[in-house]
Amino acid sequence: MNAIKNIIERASKLNGTVVLPEGQDARVITAACACVERKIATPIVLGTAAEIADAEAKAGKKLSDFGIAVIDYTTGLVISGEAESFPLQNKEGSSSSRSGKDSASPLVGASSSSRSGKDSASPLVGASSSSRSGKDSASPLVGASSLLDDLAKAYHEAWNAKEAKKPAEKQKLIDFETAKKTLTTKRIYFGGMMVKMGMVQGLVAGSIASTGDMLRAAFHTLGTQKGVKTASSCFIIDLKTPTESGDGVLAFGDCGVIPNPTAEQLVDIGLATAQSYRDLTGNEPRVAYLSFSTKGSAAGDLVEKVQKAVELARPKFAEAGIKMDGEMQFDAAIVPAVGKQKNPNGEIQGNANVFIFPDLQAGNIAYKVAQRIGGADAIGPNLQGLAKAMNDLSRGCSADDIVATVAVTMLQSVTK
Ligand SMILES: CC(C)(COP(=O)(O)OP(=O)(O)OC[C@H]1O[C@@H](n2cnc3c(N)ncnc32)[C@H](O)[C@@H]1OP(=O)(O)O)[C@@H](O)C(=O)NCCC(=O)NCCS
Repeated sequence: MNAIKNIIERASKLNGTVVLPEGQDARVITAACACVERKIATPIVLGTAAEIADAEAKAGKKLSDFGIAVIDYTTGLVISGEAESFPLQNKEGSSSSRSGKDSASPLVGASSSSRSGKDSASPLVGASSSSRSGKDSASPLVGASSLLDDLAKAYHEAWNAKEAKKPAEKQKLIDFETAKKTLTTKRIYFGGMMVKMGMVQGLVAGSIASTGDMLRAAFHTLGTQKGVKTASSCFIIDLKTPTESGDGVLAFGDCGVIPNPTAEQLVDIGLATAQSYRDLTGNEPRVAYLSFSTKGSAAGDLVEKVQKAVELARPKFAEAGIKMDGEMQFDAAIVPAVGKQKNPNGEIQGNANVFIFPDLQAGNIAYKVAQRIGGADAIGPNLQGLAKAMNDLSRGCSADDIVATVAVTMLQSVTK
């Protein structure tokens, strides 16, 4: 049972960057410091000066001792963080990124250039170019509120572009001031826009925000990745004993987001869970769409939904080169002898390592059974299908859970 250790080890090789919006929480302060100490990622924390001071006192640690930058999301100002290690802007509005010496800084590191090679410009230059007005071509973010204005402008444009696709009577267009107010009152939205704009690679929050608030912020700032309409989630199940096919780690989806998915949504859930399995374990996925029926052994609406999902999913999995089969019962998916007997011609015969549940009740119950009766470690929920990496914490989480979720988020960010 080494899945989380492996995830943390692999994440620490990425030099990733993450925004932790809930700087009012002492657990977040502890986790941010641990991320730096253990070289898992470079965090940027959001919060007001008073919130941070209070949380630091409770945590018994100071972010500045670890070189961690803090942004006040209510103003967009950097309120702590070494200027030389933080190229955004300092309190006076001067930008250290101009010196060009800060290649180790979080925001330079956040540039997709270092990973994809696609973008040689700093993401902040891109993020702010529209509002620069040509006055200072060397410094994209010199005005005290330019970060906030840039994020708000991008949010405003993206929101209205999304609404414009809806029928006129359903459109909820907003103005710039409303966009700005959303970011200065909803810290997850502020952080989400930092991720969207490429300033950091991922976001982790939810130790205070509810799952619903986290999901809405994810949908409204990041949206879904290309070709995916529905975001979902999965759990990585780290088994006490490997399956007969030798898999020590499994993935279950969806266990946390879509209560009653349609067949089309099950396709998205299957593809995204297979991707998460690859990202987080480094292993090849073999996917089973689960039901109480194996290849027509039972009938009815519930079975037909899964059959339709498999039919729609089959060409997409074939294109992705991923093995997939269904509908099938759990035993046919995980026990080779049963798989061969019940599904003799199938692509998956008791050797699945990724399991797609027909609805949230089944998925959520299943991961808890694996955890509470099977003694497995359940890592998640890991959000998937989003355009960029963002994850939700349980409100009962520990600082260690936050660190682990940062590591998961950093691995997910690689394929975004
Ligand atoms: C995600 C969730 C919070 C959305 O609830 P909601 O706000 O009432 O839903 P809405 O239908 O109004 O959706 C809000 C927006 O998110 C979008 N959205 C909803 N679900 C989405 C999904 N799975 N993927 C992408 N976008 C989604 C909607 O299109 C809508 O966009 P719009 O505002 O641009 O029109 C809801 O699906 C939910 O509560 N899921 C279960 C979460 C849960 O309780 N998990 C606990 C189990 S561990």
